Amino acid sequence: MLSALLAGAALLSPTLVIVQPLNTTILGPYGNVPPVYPSPNTTGLGGWEDALTKAKSFVFQLTLEEKSGMVTGTPGPCVGNIIAIPRLGFPGLCLQDGPLAIRVTDYASVFPAGVSAAASFDRQLIYERGLAMGAEFRGKGAHIQLGPVAGPLGRSAYAGRNWEGFSPDPYLTGVAMELTIRGIQENGVQACAKHWVAYEQETQRNPTTVNGSITGAVLQESVSSNLDDRTMHELYMWPFANAVRAGVSSIMCSYNRINGSYACENSKSQSGLLKGELGFQGYIMSDWGGTHSGMSSVESGLDMDMPGGLGLYGLEFGPNSYFGGNITAAVNNGTLDASRLDDMITRIMTPYYFLGQDKGYPLIDPATVELNTFSPQSTWFEQFVLNGTSNRDVRADHAVVIRKLGAASAVFLKNVDGTLPLAAPKSIAVFGNDAGEDTEGYYNQINFEYGTLSVGGGSGTGRLTYLVTPLEAIKTKAQADGSLVQQFLNNTLIATTDISTLVIPQMPDVCLVFLKTWAEEGLDRTSLDTDWDGNDVVASVASYCNNTVVITHSSGINDLPWASHPNVTAIVAAHYPGQESGNAIVDVLYGAVNPSGKLPYTIALNKNDYNALPITAVNSADPYAWNAWFDEKLEIDYRYFDAQNMSVLYEFGFGLSYTTFSLSNLTISGAQVSPTAAPCVAPGGNPALWEGIYNVTVTLSNTGPVSGATVPQLYITLPSSAPTTPPKQLRGFEKVFLNASESSVVEFTLMRRDLSYWDIVTQDWVVPAGEFGVSVGFSSRDIHLTGTITAVA
Ligand SMILES: *[C@@H]1O[C@H](CO)[C@@H](O)[C@H](O)[C@H]1NC(C)=O
Ligand SMILES: *[C@@H]1O[C@H](CO)[C@@H](O)[C@H](O)[C@H]1NC(C)=O
Ligand SMILES: *[C@@H]1O[C@H](CO)[C@@H](O)[C@H](O)[C@H]1NC(C)=O
Ligand SMILES: *[C@@H]1O[C@H](CO)[C@@H](O)[C@H](O)[C@H]1NC(C)=O
Ligand SMILES: *[C@@H]1O[C@H](CO)[C@@H](O)[C@H](O)[C@H]1NC(C)=O
Ligand SMILES: *[C@@H]1O[C@H](CO)[C@@H](O)[C@H](O)[C@H]1NC(C)=O
Ligand SMILES: *[C@@H]1O[C@H](CO)[C@@H](O)[C@H](O)[C@H]1NC(C)=O
Ligand SMILES: *[C@@H]1O[C@H](CO)[C@@H](O)[C@H](O)[C@H]1NC(C)=O
Ligand SMILES: *[C@@H]1O[C@H](CO)[C@@H](O)[C@H](O)[C@H]1NC(C)=O
Ligand SMILES: *[C@@H]1O[C@H](CO)[C@@H](O)[C@H](O)[C@H]1NC(C)=O
Ligand SMILES: *[C@@H]1O[C@H](CO)[C@@H](O)[C@H](O)[C@H]1NC(C)=O
Ligand SMILES: *[C@@H]1O[C@H](CO)[C@@H](O)[C@H](O)[C@H]1NC(C)=O
Repeated sequence: MLSALLAGAALLSPTLVIVQPLNTTILGPYGNVPPVYPSPNTTGLGGWEDALTKAKSFVFQLTLEEKSGMVTGTPGPCVGNIIAIPRLGFPGLCLQDGPLAIRVTDYASVFPAGVSAAASFDRQLIYERGLAMGAEFRGKGAHIQLGPVAGPLGRSAYAGRNWEGFSPDPYLTGVAMELTIRGIQENGVQACAKHWVAYEQETQRNPTTVNGSITGAVLQESVSSNLDDRTMHELYMWPFANAVRAGVSSIMCSYNRINGSYACENSKSQSGLLKGELGFQGYIMSDWGGTHSGMSSVESGLDMDMPGGLGLYGLEFGPNSYFGGNITAAVNNGTLDASRLDDMITRIMTPYYFLGQDKGYPLIDPATVELNTFSPQSTWFEQFVLNGTSNRDVRADHAVVIRKLGAASAVFLKNVDGTLPLAAPKSIAVFGNDAGEDTEGYYNQINFEYGTLSVGGGSGTGRLTYLVTPLEAIKTKAQADGSLVQQFLNNTLIATTDISTLVIPQMPDVCLVFLKTWAEEGLDRTSLDTDWDGNDVVASVASYCNNTVVITHSSGINDLPWASHPNVTAIVAAHYPGQESGNAIVDVLYGAVNPSGKLPYTIALNKNDYNALPITAVNSADPYAWNAWFDEKLEIDYRYFDAQNMSVLYEFGFGLSYTTFSLSNLTISGAQVSPTAAPCVAPGGNPALWEGIYNVTVTLSNTGPVSGATVPQLYITLPSSAPTTPPKQLRGFEKVFLNASESSVVEFTLMRRDLSYWDIVTQDWVVPAGEFGVSVGFSSRDIHLTGTITAVA
């Protein structure tokens, strides 16, 4: 939420301007949203029954003013705060950013970003990342971690926050959500899955106000994501179903409007889809300033207003709120049924008891107060206990999993004739401003010129306590090997100078070029190129050096126009690996770790091939003019390129290894299970959807010279009886490590949901009749085995 304020309003891109065509279908305040009232009560379904009883007895003891306080954020030590009620022994709630680190504090780790976690395709490491992050939030006294992220999903290659989430593939993101949440919550920390829902661009994510002032009158409302019901279910809602099934404590509604109505006051999405269909038993909190009404939001299912103040980003701190005193007044004047307010607090307190947060939780580290620029102490009007120990070091041995995941998520896109791994090269030249130390401090809040990028910016960043740069790690390795290292970090200089005049006489054995691509909250990317003239840097180095290895540290999709340059002998997409960046990249460049990362998105042949671009301007002053029509429906990322039969440069799921693998012996087993799923709700939706109904096995063999891991991937093709669907959809993956010459059987379980589509007429998931295609391979376009499943109607 923070960086957007700093970033100001300069959202119009010089290189990418997508003006929405004049469309008379402008969606007004309530848009095209089927009304769903009242908001359902929690029942504690799915194992929260005992906690629910405790929560209810807590609520029973509250005064009306306390109740209003329990649902309204207030300025305090953390980025979000709920009042303490000392007479009931309730210490309040501390909500902290973000999805890859506890941000506003010190002595905490910076983990790889979501995009890196996804690129690992490694269930175990994704879980361990969640477990370690949760331990740090707990250690610092934060009750709630504001993460992980499944919205944005990644509809558009340009969206500024895609890297905070995992992948535009909903199945991969769903698995990552589930494992991350389980990891976080095993520490007794509440996870908050965000942002619900269809939040797919930064531009105009919040209203335009007079003079951009936080208190100014609204000129134009936030962009509206207008999407059909099937697309909602099969793409944007899908990973949140995994989150709810994993028992996520809270869900954050997003800034955008959906079908014309703000996400935090949209009764269909909150009460209908989330609390109704998915059986979500926890609470919905607003994104910071995402609340735009009082009673409409409450009646539409919003349970907690964050950070509680009025104005843009909720930053107009003072005693006034859409909630707070307005809730008290609304109960008193009979507008708001007291049972709805009770349910809001019951939903907030049930996970608190379920996770044992009432049983001796660590105190808030006072260091967070000093670093909290969002609600500094001068803005508080409530008392908070701040007598915990300051500057607690919560990093433990988390550097180990950070380094492992950093290496496991590096995606090798090109490696000509064994360029890599490096074997003690005699002479190494390192190029690019992404290789070395930054010169402006470790905040990752700005797009500085010099210094390696380990993560992106905004509320989803982390505050580094140290950062191992690629150059530092290369030098350490080179010293052990007796190699010569030369370094050139000025991109302008590299791009405009004849490299032969820079490099010491003979040709280096290898030229390592480090490029970066920044992305941050509040701004969409304006280009898919690497930053700081990355293309010119590669052109210059490759015109001289016949063994040029390019490594990118990037938020995600990049255009790589030099990919086929004969002197570019290797390309590695290293994404945002966190604080152990240098060690992780050296591990794979030198072969201590065999690369096994896979692309969690598609790199198109041409940068203009991408569809579903963000809307960056409107040619109307209508307050409701900002509309993003999700007309591509299910066709995002590889689903689009496959459906349109377009060639791509590097496809979804692709990534090289230092060894080779083969697949054989596809088997499919399973009863002909009745396709009709009994209508019964549990967290995550109808439990029948999560039943394994077919098992698929393949034999994976390491046929190469060294040990290593790879990721067999299973894609499903729906029968022709289903409505139009992209040709292939990921429905299984497993990262498997094998020694040289070793084989193993890999099993995929297909759940009923994996073989279903959302039927808009019956409003249910349907397993279509006919023959399903089952494809197993090493990427979405490298299919080695195929089989079929026939479902009975
Ligand atoms: C206008 O809005 C409709 C939705 O009613 C949408 O389907 C259509 O694509 C829009 N037209 C244009 C030209 O964008
Ligand atoms: C959005 O509009 C579509 C088309 O009218 C409708 O089917 C869907 O239920 C709506 N979704 C929401 C969340 O309003
Ligand atoms: C929620 O429960 C209360 C009783 O505690 C009841 O009065 C109210 O009608 C219920 N609301 C819904 C939506 O079921
Ligand atoms: C907006 O800014 C302009 C120029 O600074 C000023 O003249 C005008 O009064 C401001 N409008 C409001 C409503 O603050
Ligand atoms: C109630 O909400 C309105 C906005 O709808 C706001 O202007 C007012 O200050 C709020 N009142 C209180 C007591 O917070
Ligand atoms: C009751 O109070 C709420 C919150 O301040 C307000 O929105 C609503 O208009 C009031 N209703 C009546 C009938 O006074
Ligand atoms: C901090 O203060 C609270 C209440 O004032 C007290 O209950 C608690 O024991 C104190 N904790 C420490 C570590 O001093
Ligand atoms: C980088 O190189 C360019 C071109 O030689 C030069 O103008 C600029 O001053 C250099 N920057 C730094 C920080 O040295
Ligand atoms: C590749 O590098 C060699 C130097 O070894 C150079 O002579 C050649 O021009 C380069 N090729 C291209 C296409 O730039
Ligand atoms: C690169 O150039 C060097 C020196 O010019 C030469 O020895 C080497 O064989 C070349 N390597 C390749 C892969 O062409
Ligand atoms: C194929 O896989 C099945 C299931 O794992 C196994 O029972 C069978 O022996 C395998 N066949 C071959 C030829 O490996
Ligand atoms: C799938 O395999 C598991 C054991 O790995 C077994 O428990 C389950 O019954 C099998 N399911 C089907 C549908 O064959």
